[in-house]
Amino acid sequence: MRSTDEIRRQFPIFRSEEIIYLDSAATAQKPQIVLDAIDRFYKEENANVHRGMHILAEKATESFEGARETVANFLGADLHETVFTHGCTESINLVAMSWGRSNLKKGDTVALSILEHHSNIVPWLQLKEEIGINVQWIDIDDDGSLMIDNFDGVQLVAITGCSNVLGVKPDLKLIIDTAHAAGAKVVVDAAQLVVHEKIDVKELDCDFLTFSGHKLYGPTGIGVLYGKRELLESMPPFLGGGMMIGEVKKDSFTSAEIPNKFEAGTPPIAQAVGLKAALDWLSQFEWKYIQTHEDDLIRAAIETLNTIEGLHILGKPQVGCVSFTIEGIHPHDLTEIIGRKGVCMRAGHHCAQPLHERLGINASTRLSVGIYNTKEDIARAKEEIEKAISILKS
Ligand code: ALA
Repeated sequence: MRSTDEIRRQFPIFRSEEIIYLDSAATAQKPQIVLDAIDRFYKEENANVHRGMHILAEKATESFEGARETVANFLGADLHETVFTHGCTESINLVAMSWGRSNLKKGDTVALSILEHHSNIVPWLQLKEEIGINVQWIDIDDDGSLMIDNFDGVQLVAITGCSNVLGVKPDLKLIIDTAHAAGAKVVVDAAQLVVHEKIDVKELDCDFLTFSGHKLYGPTGIGVLYGKRELLESMPPFLGGGMMIGEVKKDSFTSAEIPNKFEAGTPPIAQAVGLKAALDWLSQFEWKYIQTHEDDLIRAAIETLNTIEGLHILGKPQVGCVSFTIEGIHPHDLTEIIGRKGVCMRAGHHCAQPLHERLGINASTRLSVGIYNTKEDIARAKEEIEKAISILKS
């Protein structure tokens, strides 16, 4: 197994300046091999997919469909169940606007956890406005664990695989089994989970699962939607345009088969190539290695941050990130000062305002980790946080 130093050397961003990057929950850095794959695609294969009858179009189509195969294998999904979108947000919107609009009616209920990111809240609130569904909230206890009883009377459960604020991981299997027992479907927002642990959609038995490429060491601008075949087949297209049609007449159209039915317009081709490179790169590491390394980092972060006077960690973080507040200090001020010293963290509501409201705060500071982080990064962050506190309190 490679050392973290060797891993870091594969990321050009860590070569130039001294950066302590603790913001991977916002976006992960990219290894050279991913940048090379995108560069090579544009230099050697660039063409649109499925349209042209020339050698470059053939190569581009092969690379794009090869990427789909890699993503499908990564998830344990079938090819037809693996849809490329332009991001996790678009994937969730696709479920809401296609499955939601055609399966939910006034008075139906979508259950959301209070941990959700805005991208798994707002589309459901849009349907509340549009068709009058009810949105039912699942609360948390002090640790951030969800308080789940049953899902009687619920049609859909929309749940995060891992909170982007508290770093807590809902028990997905329990939630999915409980939802199915009540006849509800489940969409899992796995944006914060896929990079930290193995996901097998068939084992989970989720109905939909979404994530984006850029948190997986891949490029921005690409997302994935997994959906059970029978559900995707029964759903109407989300966006209309090229690629998603069978035939277009002056007053009607037919849809393409899945997954193309949901891939209107030119898809994120170079991004799919980059995502494949990222997944191939990631596959050299065993999940056990990634989990052990990142668990150590999260434990170290909790221990280290807890030694800072007045600092309060939110919930009981398990995976990926630790968020906190410091008495008398605004998260934005703190994060800006440490940012000037090269310590990159995120401050604010992290696109999770209902969660912050539930916790009785407006904002927090978040430290998040990736495969390239070390305990030294966390120690450096602590030093800079303490210096910032003394500046802000002086
Ligand atoms: N959803 C990303 C985050 O939590 C952007 O920072």
